[in-house]
Amino acid sequence: MRLPWPRPPWAPFLRASLLIGGVPSLALLLLMLLGYADPGPAALALLLVVTASTTLARIWLGTLAQLAADLRHAAEGAVPSLPRVPLLPSAALVAEAAARLARSLAEREALVERLRRADSAIVEALPDPLLVLGADRSPLRANAAARRFFGEAGDAADTAAFLRHPGIAGAVDRALAERAPQTAEAVLPVPVARDLSTHVIPLDPPLADGGRLLIVLADRTQARAAERMRADFVANASHELRTPLSSIIGFVETLRGPAAGDPEAGARFLGIIAEQAERMRRLIEDLLGLSRIEMTEHQAPGGEARLDELARAEAAAMAPILATRNASLALDLSPAIVTPADPGQLAQVLRNLLENAVRHGRERGQIGLSVAVLAAPRDGLAPGVLLRVTDDGPGIAREHIPRLTERFYRVDAGRSRAAGGTGLGLAIVKHIVSHHRGQLLIDSAPGEGTTFRVWLPGHAASSSPAAQPAVGPATLSG
Ligand SMILES: Nc1ncnc2c1ncn2[C@@H]1O[C@H](COP(=O)(O)OP(=O)(O)OP(=O)(O)O)[C@@H](O)[C@H]1O
Ligand SMILES: [Mg+2]
Repeated sequence: MRLPWPRPPWAPFLRASLLIGGVPSLALLLLMLLGYADPGPAALALLLVVTASTTLARIWLGTLAQLAADLRHAAEGAVPSLPRVPLLPSAALVAEAAARLARSLAEREALVERLRRADSAIVEALPDPLLVLGADRSPLRANAAARRFFGEAGDAADTAAFLRHPGIAGAVDRALAERAPQTAEAVLPVPVARDLSTHVIPLDPPLADGGRLLIVLADRTQARAAERMRADFVANASHELRTPLSSIIGFVETLRGPAAGDPEAGARFLGIIAEQAERMRRLIEDLLGLSRIEMTEHQAPGGEARLDELARAEAAAMAPILATRNASLALDLSPAIVTPADPGQLAQVLRNLLENAVRHGRERGQIGLSVAVLAAPRDGLAPGVLLRVTDDGPGIAREHIPRLTERFYRVDAGRSRAAGGTGLGLAIVKHIVSHHRGQLLIDSAPGEGTTFRVWLPGHAASSSPAAQPAVGPATLSG
């Protein structure tokens, strides 16, 4: 008979055959020798016993070898196939139990793997940078936020510099010594200064990969910058108010004292007082306007606005200040609707930009105001409405341009203040534009004039009122 199992090694095979057939063979031999059995049938019986015992030994050893191989595979994580039909019933039971055990082991392993993956997915997705340190304080793992924060692989110097920071190293020492979470604040000066708030958490017992410490970072750079900006803003605002106020107080004292009987000086001083009071009024109005716009910045405006009509009205209202600088204003207005829009706020944008062009432009300057509809994307701008204010004034040096929209930022504070400026105009424009989900673009170079472009969501107006010409250029001269 051809058995499905490999031929077992000789020594165990002989031992097993002897164990099975030894006693009956010996008994037969003895019976034959003592004359109790006929030699012929006894020899036949002996042959049968030997054949049966070797066959049984081979089946037995083969089954055990197969079971051992299956168990070895199971230990390596493979679920064994059901045992090949063993001829020993108890071996079949053992084989089945082994297969069940292997299956449940494999299931448990899969579960552990799923849990491990879920854990690392959570850690990986956390928005705050997180590091795991080993017992020697070297980083074992970092989540995606930490990798972004410290720079991708190859820029490990950053992590090392961070761990060497005295504040952080101290917190790590304390966490290990006291076995309690610690916090530390640190400012990393390179490559860009960053303000970090750090939690160091000891892990007891350690993680499976040997992790002993968890470091969670919170980047407070922006929050601190905002705090500083707020503090600067209050300081700037009070400084701007204090200057005209001291001047008013000074002149009032002079009027009451040395200049009490001098009507000519009195009239002059009253003029200055009125001018300074007017400056304070403008400043307060701008500050209140700015905070009103800021308060509503997160909600989109409700209505819509005919930008060409607003532009025409604001251009007409500019006549007196155009006259003070002998400047002229050319209009090129296409009918356009900005939507959603707050017409009052858009009028303020127009006013601030036109005022800047007049006040910071040149004497007898040429100012341009245009409203155009972008039907297709152009110059990196999506379809929408484009407002443009140009002047041929002295222009602005490149390094000032990114800062123009900061509150109180003035290229030449003395000149702007003399012209009645508070340095809030462009900050207001920027807030209004971002409230309208628009874009403010400033192009300028010294000696080449300045162009302010405001892109806003909107489209062409289907018709324009008959009373006014739809498209310029029309010229208002001062
Ligand atoms: N068209 C322009 N040409 C040259 N410089 C300009 C122009 N517009 C703005 N600036 C510069 O930008 C600065 C900031 O402008 P912003 O409108 O915010 O303040 P301001 O005009 O000085 O005061 P106000 O709050 O009264 O508008 C100005 O002080 C000026 O230096
Ligand atoms: Mg201004």
